Amino acid sequence: MPLSHFVISVIGSLNVDLVTRTARIPTAGETLTAESFDTGFGGKGANQAVACARVSRTQSQARNGESTDVEVRMVGAVGDDQFADDFLKSLQAGGVETSKVQKLPNQKTGVAVILVESQTGENRILLSPGANYNVPVVDLLQRDTTVALFQLEVPIEVALLNMKAARERDIVVILNPAPAIPLPEDAYKGLDHLIVNETEASILSGIENPTSWNDVTSVFINRGVQNVIITLGAEGVYYQTAARHAKSEPAKVLPARKVKVVDTTAAGDTFVGAYAVSVARSNSRTVDASFDIDAAIEYANRAASETVQKVGAQSAIPWVDEVPSS
Ligand code: ADP
Ligand code: NA
Repeated sequence: MPLSHFVISVIGSLNVDLVTRTARIPTAGETLTAESFDTGFGGKGANQAVACARVSRTQSQARNGESTDVEVRMVGAVGDDQFADDFLKSLQAGGVETSKVQKLPNQKTGVAVILVESQTGENRILLSPGANYNVPVVDLLQRDTTVALFQLEVPIEVALLNMKAARERDIVVILNPAPAIPLPEDAYKGLDHLIVNETEASILSGIENPTSWNDVTSVFINRGVQNVIITLGAEGVYYQTAARHAKSEPAKVLPARKVKVVDTTAAGDTFVGAYAVSVARSNSRTVDASFDIDAAIEYANRAASETVQKVGAQSAIPWVDEVPSS
């Protein structure tokens, strides 16, 4: 067992991605032959769990089931169908602990049917949440949790109850509110870390066409968030802390790394996972303690820049030795 031991619990979704590429989308009543078909394991929760695990261990450490300083625990639900066991095995092979993924009887594992129109590159996605929407609304966090990481592809009641439970137990909370579902004001009060992309930032702040991202971070900090991070794709990352805001210091911007972009799928999830690993290792909730937000953002930006250079979702997320060192 390594000297330090941190536990990241990811409370979120597990979806099977069924991806068909086609020259064009068939019209009603029409049958077309597709160009290709692939399946993959996804869902924001599972992707972020894999990201946490991969950026904190090597592939051989994962393969040998070696424990490292960061234990990653997936918390969620699958069905009792043909996908369930393979999904859990795939997570385990990625270094993710799955004993808290419930197999719900008479339920189906979440499925995303994704049609990719190859001429335009446009995606059309139909999501069947299945078991994800039947995660029970109860306290799901174990006491040894260092960091609890949430998205919103499970029922909002599950997220709200467990964010509250985490706070009462001094577990650090990271929220990536995707999809952008409006939350009650008190969900933000005392929230340690909020990570949003451009769209989520705009919807959840209520500022439609922001002229300054500083206005947006201010909205969230005034609601009680400690650290606000806005990822802007190729534009970079914009972030602010409550402590800096209180001293009227401006928010910071970190440019995205200049790389050859092949497929941006799972870039956001890689960013969130890598950031969560830095938070867990600091094991503190504020910037004035040992948590170095600038270093955490820089590391997450580096890890995510690797993901965009590879095709695929979970398979594109770098292992620790694949994250560029600077
Ligand atoms: P989401 O996929 O959730 O919308 P973003 O598009 O904001 O998230 O991307 C998340 C992070 O991935 C960015 O902050 C950046 O670190 C990295 N990233 C995304 N697109 C690019 C790009 N074109 N070049 C380099 N890095 C990128
Ligand atoms: Na990718």
